[in-house]
Amino acid sequence: MSRVAGKVVLVTGAGSGIGRATARLLADEGATVIVTDINRPGGLETVQQIGGRARFEEQDTSREADWKQVIDDILAREGRLDGLVNNAGIAGPYPSTFESETVEQWQRMLSINVQGVFLGCKHGVPAIRSSGGGSIVNLSSLAAFLGTPNLAAYGASKGAVRQFTKTVAIDCARKGYKVRCNSVHPGVILTPMGEGIMPDDKAKERVRRSIPIGDFGAPQDIAYGILYLISDESRFVTGTELVIDGGMNAI
Ligand SMILES: NC(=O)c1ccc[n+]([C@@H]2O[C@H](COP(=O)([O-])OP(=O)(O)OC[C@H]3O[C@@H](n4cnc5c(N)ncnc54)[C@H](O)[C@@H]3O)[C@@H](O)[C@H]2O)c1
Repeated sequence: MSRVAGKVVLVTGAGSGIGRATARLLADEGATVIVTDINRPGGLETVQQIGGRARFEEQDTSREADWKQVIDDILAREGRLDGLVNNAGIAGPYPSTFESETVEQWQRMLSINVQGVFLGCKHGVPAIRSSGGGSIVNLSSLAAFLGTPNLAAYGASKGAVRQFTKTVAIDCARKGYKVRCNSVHPGVILTPMGEGIMPDDKAKERVRRSIPIGDFGAPQDIAYGILYLISDESRFVTGTELVIDGGMNAI
């Protein structure tokens, strides 16, 4: 009940899916959670489900001005920042191959999935440092390890997050910042995004059969991994990749 007691943690994209489950679990384990999302009703619903020790702030993670505002507000209101979960992301349209993808779609994907994570680290690290140190978790994907013919830009974006996470981890460690940074790599998780890449029941069954453990993951399965990386239990862990995928990456 108190694995992250007293910590202040920002979770982006927490109005749905993995972000919501993570915000709820962190709050259950004693953290004060700042829930952000471009989806205001979703974010407010998450805060309502937590029912205390949480507040919502609207944020587009691809915009630097929004990051400055959110971090300034946290330091002014909560007085510290101990953890940051760069979870916000998009996956569509599905399918989109390297031949069908437009430049506009490609740039939108990278501006949210990669630039959003870059900005989170850029503005999150000084705030966490000034609070005495802490942990950043970046949501990458199983897609960072495999070719993703029907999700071309998405796969590229998650590969970038995987690599960038190690850069931040090593730079912070060598500079003595006491800020750890790790990536989490979900397989197929039943959220609005996960459902979106399986257009019908037949496709869903085909994907299910491809998962060695025999079923899809739930948002909580990812949230437990993030909880560990945000908590001090992982104090010696930085620059690593936590794959939570029912065995898919081991085939
Ligand atoms: N569901 C899966 O199978 C799966 C697999 C691998 C990785 N992931 C990653 O996990 C993370 C969460 O995914 P999910 O499945 O919970 O998706 P989801 O669609 O349920 O939730 C994503 C949330 O991010 C928000 N968001 C989108 N763009 C934003 C922006 N610019 N600024 C702020 N918020 C924004 C959305 O409004 C939404 O609430 C994503 O980074 C995703 O790529 C998911």
